[in-house]
Amino acid sequence: MLSSRLNQLCVATILCIFLCHGSLHAELCAEADKQALLKLKEGFVHGMELLSSWNGHDCCKWKGVSCNNLTGHVTSLDLNFSNITLVEDLNYLLDDMPEMEFFNRSTELGRKIDSSICELQHLTFLDLTHNSLQGEIPKCIGSLGQLTHLKLAWNGLSSVPYTMSNLSNLEYLDLGKNYFVARDLDWLSHLSSLKYLDLSKNNFGALIDWPSSISKIPFLSELYLNDCGLHQVNPKSISRINSSTFLQILSLSGNHFDSSIMSWVLNVSKVLTVLDLSHNELDNGIIKSFNTLCHLKKLYLGFNKLSDQLSGYLPEFCSAKDLEVLNLDHNPFSNGTLPDFSLFSSLERLSLQNTSIVGPLLFGHSPRLKALDLSLNNLNGSFPVFEVTKFATLHFLDLSHNKLSGRLPYTIGKLSNLWFLSISSNELNGDISEEHLLNLSSLKILDVSKNSLSFNLSPDWVPPFQLVALYASFSILGPQFPLWLKHQRKLQVLQISNTYITDSFPEWLGDISSRFVYSFCETSSLPVTYLDLSSNALTGPLPNCWQKFQNLEVLNLANNSLSGSVPESFGNLRSILSMHLNNNNFSGDIPSLALCKGSLRFIDFGDNNLEGTLQTWLEFEHLIVLRLRGLIPDNIGHLKNLESIDLSQNHLQGMIPVGKQFDTFDNSSYVGNIGLCGMPLVNQCLDVIPPRIRRVHKKEDQLLSFEFYLGLGLGFFVGFWSVCGTSIIKPSWRRAYFRWFINVTDWIYVTVVVFTIKMKRRF
Ligand SMILES: *[C@@H]1O[C@H](CO)[C@@H](O)[C@H](O)[C@H]1NC(C)=O
Ligand SMILES: *[C@@H]1O[C@H](CO)[C@@H](O)[C@H](O)[C@H]1NC(C)=O
Ligand SMILES: *[C@@H]1O[C@H](CO)[C@@H](O)[C@H](O)[C@H]1NC(C)=O
Ligand SMILES: *[C@@H]1O[C@H](CO)[C@@H](O)[C@H](O)[C@H]1NC(C)=O
Ligand SMILES: *[C@@H]1O[C@H](CO)[C@@H](O)[C@H](O)[C@H]1NC(C)=O
Ligand SMILES: *[C@@H]1O[C@H](CO)[C@@H](O)[C@H](O)[C@H]1NC(C)=O
Ligand SMILES: *[C@@H]1O[C@H](CO)[C@@H](O)[C@H](O)[C@H]1NC(C)=O
Ligand SMILES: *[C@@H]1O[C@H](CO)[C@@H](O)[C@H](O)[C@H]1NC(C)=O
Ligand SMILES: *[C@@H]1O[C@H](CO)[C@@H](O)[C@H](O)[C@H]1NC(C)=O
Ligand SMILES: *[C@@H]1O[C@H](CO)[C@@H](O)[C@H](O)[C@H]1NC(C)=O
Ligand SMILES: *[C@@H]1O[C@H](CO)[C@@H](O)[C@H](O)[C@H]1NC(C)=O
Ligand SMILES: *[C@@H]1O[C@H](CO)[C@@H](O)[C@H](O)[C@H]1NC(C)=O
Repeated sequence: MLSSRLNQLCVATILCIFLCHGSLHAELCAEADKQALLKLKEGFVHGMELLSSWNGHDCCKWKGVSCNNLTGHVTSLDLNFSNITLVEDLNYLLDDMPEMEFFNRSTELGRKIDSSICELQHLTFLDLTHNSLQGEIPKCIGSLGQLTHLKLAWNGLSSVPYTMSNLSNLEYLDLGKNYFVARDLDWLSHLSSLKYLDLSKNNFGALIDWPSSISKIPFLSELYLNDCGLHQVNPKSISRINSSTFLQILSLSGNHFDSSIMSWVLNVSKVLTVLDLSHNELDNGIIKSFNTLCHLKKLYLGFNKLSDQLSGYLPEFCSAKDLEVLNLDHNPFSNGTLPDFSLFSSLERLSLQNTSIVGPLLFGHSPRLKALDLSLNNLNGSFPVFEVTKFATLHFLDLSHNKLSGRLPYTIGKLSNLWFLSISSNELNGDISEEHLLNLSSLKILDVSKNSLSFNLSPDWVPPFQLVALYASFSILGPQFPLWLKHQRKLQVLQISNTYITDSFPEWLGDISSRFVYSFCETSSLPVTYLDLSSNALTGPLPNCWQKFQNLEVLNLANNSLSGSVPESFGNLRSILSMHLNNNNFSGDIPSLALCKGSLRFIDFGDNNLEGTLQTWLEFEHLIVLRLRGLIPDNIGHLKNLESIDLSQNHLQGMIPVGKQFDTFDNSSYVGNIGLCGMPLVNQCLDVIPPRIRRVHKKEDQLLSFEFYLGLGLGFFVGFWSVCGTSIIKPSWRRAYFRWFINVTDWIYVTVVVFTIKMKRRF
């Protein structure tokens, strides 16, 4: 990927040399500025690669550099190389599935901001977002008096010098997602031009009087103070506030506020359009505030302590007609039926996950609704008829974890804008036929698992969609292997365990992957990263074409009746982290898995008739769990990371029985062992996927409180693994390209808990 980018860069540079050379407008940059840039570059670890264009006379032509075209002084430095879709809380329900990208660390400059930056005296724009920079912001930054935009988010910077207060022209300041710790924000009160301020995800738990510093910024229109560890506001500082008519967007989520924060909120602005107070300790006391905030368009109150009837809240909203986004997830509301939202005629996104809704799902005409999440409630009765006339704009529908019963109505198949549909864990039965899927041409993620649904699709059916993920465990797909999957050329996650397939292993599965050959670059090549066909009755030998699955990270074929030898091409699974072939009839020698050496962490070949020597495995330095196999050599201790080994139920000579504690996936001691290993996240990564189709909510579990953002998608394993494998706290890795939630089975939950405990200790 990088090399192709480098190529592009080279081409661009060469082109530029040809085209720009004789250009009349060619302005040479000021020599002093050029020297300053070169010194700055020396402070970056990856300066050589990422700033390879930084040579030649005219620094104004260098990547990211812009100059004043008359003086040749550098006026703008834009060194944000990240190309990742960051999906922040404020808009986490998406209209479309975001493009996922592989995580690649080399898009970050690294190390530090050299003080030579201050020699660029004419700088007005400086963007060093997402660069893994550590240490302090140089004190001399205060001399860059012309700066209007300063973006230093997503780094590991640790202190803000007081001299920042000199930057009186600053309009846009983003210091979010760093390691700043502060007792006061006095420097802020001098920044009188500021309109945008993001200090989110820093540690300001010790701040005493942040409201008065903030309130001295007269024209502020966007303020992000989420996840700062802030405590309740001192009432005295509230009285000193002049209500702003500018502040429109306010995020205070993930702090320790109770309902009395509302007196500050109401004092600070009367014109809020976006308010995020999720993940705090608000109770019913806030209810009356909403008949004052009449400009609200987006409101996030998830993860608080709102406990009255949900229906009691709705009449309080004076902005009901204009509200576009309403999120009340995970509040302990009293049981009640789904309230009537018909007055909320502008609603685009409604999320009422885990809000104690009982009874039938009746929903009025919602002409603009794009996303509806009613998961984790007690909705019962028959599955609603989603008339396409009422829900024409629906993109995202999550009704999972309810008690909806009966058959799936055909009308669901007409929602042609849906890209996400989850109805898992209900009590649905009957068929899923072609008619159900007829017009779902935008569908990318489908989860019908854990119902009693039965796929009734003709073998030559060609689906109108290209799925990225299919979850169908515990439905009936068999007895034949579902042939329509042949057409799913973008599939990354296939979870069809326990689906009554009694077929032979499909040869063409390899072909799916071969069609994924992408013309751009190898690392973006597609797909299958997760393949779970376990607990079916698959028979026969495996095809020998696994070299096609270059991105496969988890392969679970356990608990089938597969036979023959383990294919040699398994040795080409370069990305494989976790391989389960246990409980089949495989026989013969285990092939060399040389290319998997660097990646494999978890192997379970148990309960087969395989032969081989443990010698083979000694080279797998990262192996954590091994269950198979043959002879036990003396030097088994060389497997440094090996935390568990189960050699029982094999054809062993010189047996070392280790007991049966690892025989089942669900066994907590087994989990515990993995969890406590050197790299606990590995296990997480291995077995947590399939990604549960829910946005990650901070604080849902402890993991997230130390910036555990799942970078999921194509690169979930690759990306996340490369993150976890080295160090979890590296700030540049605290990124969220998309927030998903995990399918928390008990097994995983235990892993997570174990992991959490460990991480806590580490901090
Ligand atoms: C110089 O920059 C100004 C403002 O950015 C622009 O209007 C003008 O066309 C530029 N002149 C040349 C010669 O590029
Ligand atoms: C960023 O992503 C877009 C679309 O995926 C791509 O066209 C572009 O080349 C990428 N830019 C970089 C710097 O990687
Ligand atoms: C960084 O640059 C990328 C690509 O241009 C852009 O998508 C992203 O929003 C930028 N991030 C910030 C914080 O400006
Ligand atoms: C990241 O970039 C390096 C080049 O620096 C490349 O070798 C590697 O394959 C890339 N990894 C991914 C996952 O894109
Ligand atoms: C800040 O501004 C004051 C006066 O405007 C000046 O004396 C001082 O040198 C500046 N500090 C820095 C670090 O530039
Ligand atoms: C509020 O406004 C008054 C008059 O406009 C001004 O004198 C006072 O300093 C302001 N208070 C604060 C805290 O900004
Ligand atoms: C502003 O704050 C004061 C002090 O807490 C409070 O008495 C007053 O009601 C608040 N104003 C509004 C409009 O809420
Ligand atoms: C639902 O929300 C309550 C708090 O209201 C929380 O205790 C519970 O764990 C949540 N349930 C799920 C499944 O997230
Ligand atoms: C709410 O409903 C659930 C499920 O129907 C029930 O278990 C629970 O006891 C009810 N709680 C109250 C307070 O009625
Ligand atoms: C739905 O749940 C409610 C409350 O638990 C119960 O009274 C009602 O009978 C249920 N309806 C159906 C159709 O199961
Ligand atoms: C459904 O698909 C059929 C055939 O592809 C098409 O003729 C029809 O217009 C579609 N209906 C809707 C509501 O999109
Ligand atoms: C193995 O698969 C069968 C169905 O083929 C299933 O009944 C059984 O529960 C599975 N065993 C395990 C341990 O998953």
